[in-house]
Amino acid sequence: MTEKLTASDVPSANLAPREAQALREQFQKLYGEEARIFRAPGRVNLIGEHTDYNEGFVMPVAMDLYTWVAAAPRQDPRVHVYSQNVSEHAEMDLQNPNLRLQGHWSAYVLGVAASLRMSGAEIGGANLLVAGKVPMGAGLSSSASVEVAAGYALLESSGLSRSPVELAKICQRAENEFAGARCGIMDQMIACCGRANYALLLDCRTLGFRLLPLFPDAQFVVCNSMVKHDHAAGEYNARRADCETATRILAQQLPGVRALRDVSLADLERFAKLLPAVVYRRSRHVISENARVLDARAALERGDPESFGRLMRASHRSLQEDYEVSSAELDLLVEIAGGIAGVHGSRMTGGGFGGCTISLVRSEVVGEFRSAVARGYERATGRQPDIYIVRASDGVREALE
Ligand code: GLA
Repeated sequence: MTEKLTASDVPSANLAPREAQALREQFQKLYGEEARIFRAPGRVNLIGEHTDYNEGFVMPVAMDLYTWVAAAPRQDPRVHVYSQNVSEHAEMDLQNPNLRLQGHWSAYVLGVAASLRMSGAEIGGANLLVAGKVPMGAGLSSSASVEVAAGYALLESSGLSRSPVELAKICQRAENEFAGARCGIMDQMIACCGRANYALLLDCRTLGFRLLPLFPDAQFVVCNSMVKHDHAAGEYNARRADCETATRILAQQLPGVRALRDVSLADLERFAKLLPAVVYRRSRHVISENARVLDARAALERGDPESFGRLMRASHRSLQEDYEVSSAELDLLVEIAGGIAGVHGSRMTGGGFGGCTISLVRSEVVGEFRSAVARGYERATGRQPDIYIVRASDGVREALE
């Protein structure tokens, strides 16, 4: 029997028309004027972890959890922003951008305004109200959704437009330079280019992408461990540095190597002795993960969820043992999922050190999967995991009624 998914399976974070109206009213109260409303999605990555900054391949999906931005132009060249999440106001003069935003929530909005100007987009002043409904610290890319929603709103308010790929690059630059995180391009690209019902196979070197339809009879399900470890950002940057070390050493042996994307497993083995042991293992993850993404694409295209699931399991092991970015909670969620009949595969997703797992589950057992994971995880940790059935959604756009 196929269990029918009900409205309660849709994450409640979706903004219903009533809530859109509440956002408009709050904007009216704050700024005394009408607003247009924009939204950008969070994301979950199906496979291809820590490959984006190695110019490799990733396969994210935009989720139906959004950051909403209400916006109206201002006469002066200032950006004012109020965040519903932190109940705080911040502002910036576009002609004299305050670039010391690092560590502050407003970096994700004002940094984008500064980055837009640096890219040559002559945006004007704007009033903004931000309501983030992508869970923070869950590895579902709340920050990129804020950046992209704000960037799009600022462009639209000024009567300007940029291609989705350009906007993604502008937002990534804001995160790298103003928010201080050395993230790759995956999260901003999917928030800009996502499409309902499709996953995105993205080549992070060329930024070319292909939309892939999802499995008709299996669902991707996200389980949030509800834990985020503090050292995540530092460890992320350390992994990037290891990859840069590997590239530097291997490029001396192999002309034409610009990134780990260019190295085969055979070449890695050939020059393994030149690399520190940890750097070798980090490289093995990246190189094997890139191959897994391409195999996963083939599995998706031929409608083979079993093979896709096998690749997910291998990806998790590699992230756990070679890249060392998993956590006890993520391993536990993957282990619980692995013991449930009808689960093709499961892995941690996102940067790691907490956050979420993603599992590929036969459609008719999704209900049982939810209760078994919730029960097992709560029994072992005392925490109730949030569980979302992934509905692949569209990238950034204006929310029209
Ligand atoms: C974070 C970063 C992405 C990517 C993933 C790991 O989400 O923002 O750019 O590197 O981690 O795949």
